[in-house]
Amino acid sequence: MNHEFPSDFVWGAAASAYQIEGAAYEDGRGESIWDRFCATPGKVRAGETGEVACGFYHRYPEDIALMRELGLDAFRFSIAWPRVVPAGTGSVNEAGLDFYDRLVDALLEAGVRPFANLFHWDLPQALEDAGGWPERATAEAFVAYAEAVADRLGDRVQDWVTHNEPFCTSWLGYGMGAHAPGHTSIGEALAASHHALLAHGWAVEAIRRASPAAEVGIVVDPWPIHPASDDPADVAAAWAEDGVRNRWFFDPLLRGSYPEDVLERFADDAPPVREGDLATISVPVDFLGVNNYSRRIVRSGPGGNPVDVPSPNGELTDMGWEVYPAGLYESLVRMHREYGVKSLYVTENGAAFADVRSHDGRIHDVERIGYLDGYLGAVENAIAEGVPVRGYFVWSLLDNFEWSLGYSKRFGLVYVDYPTLERIPKDSFYWYRDLIEASRPTESAAVASGG
Ligand code: GCO
Repeated sequence: MNHEFPSDFVWGAAASAYQIEGAAYEDGRGESIWDRFCATPGKVRAGETGEVACGFYHRYPEDIALMRELGLDAFRFSIAWPRVVPAGTGSVNEAGLDFYDRLVDALLEAGVRPFANLFHWDLPQALEDAGGWPERATAEAFVAYAEAVADRLGDRVQDWVTHNEPFCTSWLGYGMGAHAPGHTSIGEALAASHHALLAHGWAVEAIRRASPAAEVGIVVDPWPIHPASDDPADVAAAWAEDGVRNRWFFDPLLRGSYPEDVLERFADDAPPVREGDLATISVPVDFLGVNNYSRRIVRSGPGGNPVDVPSPNGELTDMGWEVYPAGLYESLVRMHREYGVKSLYVTENGAAFADVRSHDGRIHDVERIGYLDGYLGAVENAIAEGVPVRGYFVWSLLDNFEWSLGYSKRFGLVYVDYPTLERIPKDSFYWYRDLIEASRPTESAAVASGG
């Protein structure tokens, strides 16, 4: 486990509102597209929902105690738009904001920096009924929501994320049907991606008005797309897929323009870009959040379309994702060297494995420890290459609702016994705790450095 990280490296854990909070109908929370998706037969495994989830809404003091036991510097959570503005627009639900007030104060009391993420896919259903992210009005509504949150929490929250993984918001939600609201329209996906990015740009300005000293960023999820062979057709297929999966988001955010090859490919479904939009989208941010779990390997299929092929080395997580730490290294190096990003966090990295409680009541998740050890080595290597990675947030603190897979995939350092909501730290919890402790500057080192 010997890892060397900068003394000011931020050690964190990440989660999201719909995946852990529960309390879906409490204190004025409005319906989200994920409540509606879960209630739609066949969309989520075994009809599972986020109605209870991990019960974080009420149990957060217990979970913050676990964060303290880990020695975390920061906790990345998301704020549920439907709690704050139940109808998506219009009146603010003070009881919803009160919860996040309590949460932020409790985190600060525990010495844990709140990294507040404004959007992690739980769009108010009322906005979806009016067209959702394919409509520009949704981006406009997002600004009012961002202002309400930043006005309330901006005096204490100094680290903000506007959006989590706009690829998933747009393509999984509107293009592929895998996520809420379950649409399968390329045109909607491209319009949704544009408006999600536009919402990000406007929200950066809104947050800075309310929280001038804060840092603001966005979280993207680069997946390296490798060609299955040197065959030019495979190389072209991988490049095309990289365009949709990655460059469609990195280029506007970091270069102020959409990639020409993707615009050409989808010319019939071009997003509704207006004058000035790309300048808004590419507003400089204080950091970029990178979520990475694995990579993909594609070959050229029918019509040159990319077809995924299994990885050659075969070590897979319970999600069927290849354990491939080099993919995180490659993603971090790419954002820095190819896109000039000067401030990065790994805002999500972790693995699902089929965890079981052993006869001693513990969860001996050796595979997860191996996964985290390898990926943290990749982060270390990127830093050694000069990539400015400021911190690492493990996904996730708790086992939680894994979207359309329900509760079948366990990503937590802490096992959640769902019938009782009992929390049981896994072996990886103690491993991460010890790693964090070992990474702290020692007293003597502090004295020597005059710290
Ligand atoms: C994502 C989301 C998380 C997932 C996690 C595991 O990156 O897809 O941010 O909500 O649960 O990544 O899939």
